[in-house]
Amino acid sequence: MKSINVGLLGIGTVGGGTFTVLKRNQEEIARRVGCNIIIQMVADKDIEKAHHIVGSQTIVTANAHEIVANPDIEIVIELIGGQTIAKELILQAINNGKHVVTANKALLANHGSEIFSAAQQKGVIVAFEAAVAGGIPIIKALREGLTANRIEWIAGIINGTSNYILSEMREKGLAFSTALTSAQRLGYAEADPTYDIEGIDAAHKITIMAAIAFGIPVRFEKAYIEGISQLNNEDIRNAEELGYRIKLLGITKRVEKGIELRVHPTLIPIKRLIANVEGVMNAIVVKGDAVGPTLYYGAGAGAEPTASSVIADLVDVARQLTVDPKHRVPYLAFPPDSLSDTPIVSMEDVQTAYYLRLQVIDKPGVLADITRILADADISISAMIQKEHAEEEDRVNIIMLTHTTQEKNINRAIDKIEKLPSMTDKVVRIRLEELNK
Ligand code: HSE
Repeated sequence: MKSINVGLLGIGTVGGGTFTVLKRNQEEIARRVGCNIIIQMVADKDIEKAHHIVGSQTIVTANAHEIVANPDIEIVIELIGGQTIAKELILQAINNGKHVVTANKALLANHGSEIFSAAQQKGVIVAFEAAVAGGIPIIKALREGLTANRIEWIAGIINGTSNYILSEMREKGLAFSTALTSAQRLGYAEADPTYDIEGIDAAHKITIMAAIAFGIPVRFEKAYIEGISQLNNEDIRNAEELGYRIKLLGITKRVEKGIELRVHPTLIPIKRLIANVEGVMNAIVVKGDAVGPTLYYGAGAGAEPTASSVIADLVDVARQLTVDPKHRVPYLAFPPDSLSDTPIVSMEDVQTAYYLRLQVIDKPGVLADITRILADADISISAMIQKEHAEEEDRVNIIMLTHTTQEKNINRAIDKIEKLPSMTDKVVRIRLEELNK
């Protein structure tokens, strides 16, 4: 049986998982592909650790350039992460005619166009299933399984760390900072968890999915990003009372003016399946015009789940090696000359519904002032709660849900409401999506 030689750059959590799963399932995978996939070389700064994982059959080096320059290596797996050395190595590998498998979402979201164009010129494949939602084969589903459809929208829980934090806050009433510490202790969150909790990691992933779904270039810089660090338990409880759950969603949607691309905490009806995805799990709803809504659920991170996607890409590349480059499945689902320049719409033009919490002094006319401002901005209220306050307090929380409106209308209304003398704090605003159309 023929063998395909692979070089692995970085043998951390996912790299180690890839080595282990490939070894464990070697025979089964070889039967599926019709050839042996062999990790011939591994590069890692920690040579001792690498040796310990791979044993004596695999060459270990601290110099990743040795792998991308090695003429025996046909496929390079990049699992180093980051946007500097990883980018340099991937471009060198492509330039040397090697196919690339990567889990590097930040790199693809920011520099995907450059990388895909270099690969196109060299006739090599860049595969990236592991970059989005860990073990869930969402790239394959979007690019191939749903190819008959005009994709209408995608909404996903695509950051396990923030989903874990939100679950802990809701289920145990933990404060945001306590839930974050717990996520860090369990090894879910990064040492610097900013990418997770501020929505940046989710924005990388939704940017990549938007490109595949709509045939547009990767445009991370156009994404609207808001994380979960400002959320508090009171709003999570209020949402539950109204029949909604707050999730950090990555959303991309085809609308008249272009493509919406956004990440923010979102109220979604509890009765939707995706609202019940808890802990570190990921889930993505894709709405196609022919198939309707489809849901993909699974582990969004972790050694073996992510390795599952890395190895699926290796198998895909191995199977496509004999196919004329012109007839391969395009990286972004659309051939490069068919990409469209549909604009990403500005957040001001996004249409959605809203949850508002207003802390006011409890006196006559306050509610009338607020509803007048909303009515003047053409914003219709769909539900409202005012909680009875303790006798010694004169402040009260008014919670409102609005019907769908334009973000610029709500921004203007909030500006005016915050200027009312009866307001005692900033308005809390969280977007709401019914996910039913
Ligand atoms: N930090 C990511 C998460 C891991 O929490 O989902 C995989 O991208």
